[in-house]
Amino acid sequence: MNRPCTALRHEEAADFAAVRALIHATFGRAEEADLVDALRSADALTISAVAEDADRVVAHIGFSPITIGGQHHALALAPVPVAPDFQRQGIGSVLIRWSLDECRRLGHGVVSVLGEPSYYSRFGFLPAVAFGIECPFPVPSEAYMVLELLPGSATEFRGGVSYRAEFEKF
Ligand SMILES: CC(C)(COP(=O)(O)OP(=O)(O)OC[C@H]1O[C@@H](n2cnc3c(N)ncnc32)[C@H](O)[C@@H]1OP(=O)(O)O)[C@@H](O)C(=O)NCCC(=O)NCCS
Repeated sequence: MNRPCTALRHEEAADFAAVRALIHATFGRAEEADLVDALRSADALTISAVAEDADRVVAHIGFSPITIGGQHHALALAPVPVAPDFQRQGIGSVLIRWSLDECRRLGHGVVSVLGEPSYYSRFGFLPAVAFGIECPFPVPSEAYMVLELLPGSATEFRGGVSYRAEFEKF
C-alpha cells in the first residue's frame, strides 16, 4: 500500500508556498493554510514535515506547543493534509509515524490530536478523557485524543488544554 518513492523530511523554506497550496487544496478553504502560516511566522511550528513524491509535496504535518492543566508542556498535531490524489495510499500513516518518532527523538512526551478515532487509534492515540485531559473545543469527547510518546509520560497531566493564540482565529 505504501508508495516506496515517497520521501519524508522536515520542511524547508523552499517548501512554504507548496505547503500552503497543498493545505488549501486538500481542505478546500484557506483557514488551515492560514493557521500553519501564522504558526510558522510566530516560530511556533515545533515540527513541520512533508512527504515528497517526485519533487512534489504531497503531504504535510504540523505540530505546535500546547499546555495542559496550565503547566504541562505538550504538542498538538494539526493539521495533516494529504493531497487528494495521494490519499489512502499509506502516506498519511507513514508521515504521522515518522513525525511522532521525530517528536520522541526531540524529547517531547505527549501529543494531542483532534480527529477521527478510528484513524488515530492506529498510532496509539487514546481518548484524552482517559487521562483527565480536557479538550478546549466543543467536540465529541472521543474525537480528542492523546498519545504518550514514552510510557507514562502523561501520568501527571491533568486539566484543560491551552492552544496557541493562532488557533483562536481558526
Ligand atoms: C485523513 C488523511 C490525513 C489520511 O491520510 P491517508 O494517507 O489518506 O491515509 P492512509 O493511507 O495513511 O490510511 C488509510 C486508512 O485510513 C483510513 N482513513 C483515511 N481517512 C480517514 C478518515 N477521515 N477517517 C477515518 N479513517 C480514514 C482509511 O479508511 C484507511 O483505513 P485502512 O488502513 O483500515 O484501510 C487524508 O486522507 C487527508 O488528508 N484527508 C483530508 C484532510 C483531513 O481530513 N485531515 C485530517 C484532519 S487534520
